[in-house]
Amino acid sequence: MQKYVIGNWKLYPRSVRDAVTIVQKVATGVLPPRVNVWIAPPTPFIESAMRAAKKTAVGRRFRFGGQYAFPEPEGAFTGAVSGSMLKSLGATFVIVGHSERRAIFGETDEMVNTQLRAALKTGLTAVLCVGERTRDHDGAYARVVKEQLTVALKGVSSAATAKMIIAYEPVWAIGTGRPASAADVSEMALFIERVLTDLYNRKVSARIPILYGGSVDGDVAREVIRLEHVNGFLVGGASRNPKSFREIISVTGGK
Ligand code: PGA
Repeated sequence: MQKYVIGNWKLYPRSVRDAVTIVQKVATGVLPPRVNVWIAPPTPFIESAMRAAKKTAVGRRFRFGGQYAFPEPEGAFTGAVSGSMLKSLGATFVIVGHSERRAIFGETDEMVNTQLRAALKTGLTAVLCVGERTRDHDGAYARVVKEQLTVALKGVSSAATAKMIIAYEPVWAIGTGRPASAADVSEMALFIERVLTDLYNRKVSARIPILYGGSVDGDVAREVIRLEHVNGFLVGGASRNPKSFREIISVTGGK
């Protein structure tokens, strides 16, 4: 299975110039060849970030994508950005159902399903985020994740899942400096694989990459990448710090 390190820049940095500087600093020297490096800058910065990456040998391997795509290709939807627009910029993927979209922008599982199907139809790879808000002792968090997956994947054919990645991001671990333990990640990656097997079959679930996200840094990556069912990381804060992001890429590629 291929490995992935995906940077989610969120609403940072403030200027296109700063965005280009980050990419230039990430795309220097050598990075392990066997890891896919994907970056999701804010939409207005995608083209400049891509152009900066293309200037170096390592950077040419990077792929760029969006943090969100509205499900309609065009129309009277002020403020929206569609998957086909992202694609026309050269984006190859889009993040779908990030917990901040769910919490701040009110996205429901049904909306995530619509966005996911639209993104796949456009030909973008979809990075579907799931994760519980809190951890309880009686295992309700597993039911939450199962429900998120089941609704999000309604009407998504097994063939379409060839262009899908799942990111397990427990909300309590995002941006808190309190990552999930390797044991927690291992348990949930296995659980997600089992849910995918139930929804599709073993062959399909075995080829869908599962990433972990939530306060990932070099140390977290070093420990978690050893887990059998984890294929990489969705990185927020540390993806905007070139040194940290490069360390995560190196550690992941060294598995
Ligand atoms: P974090 O964010 O790495 O800053 O915790 C992860 C994410 O939101 O995807």
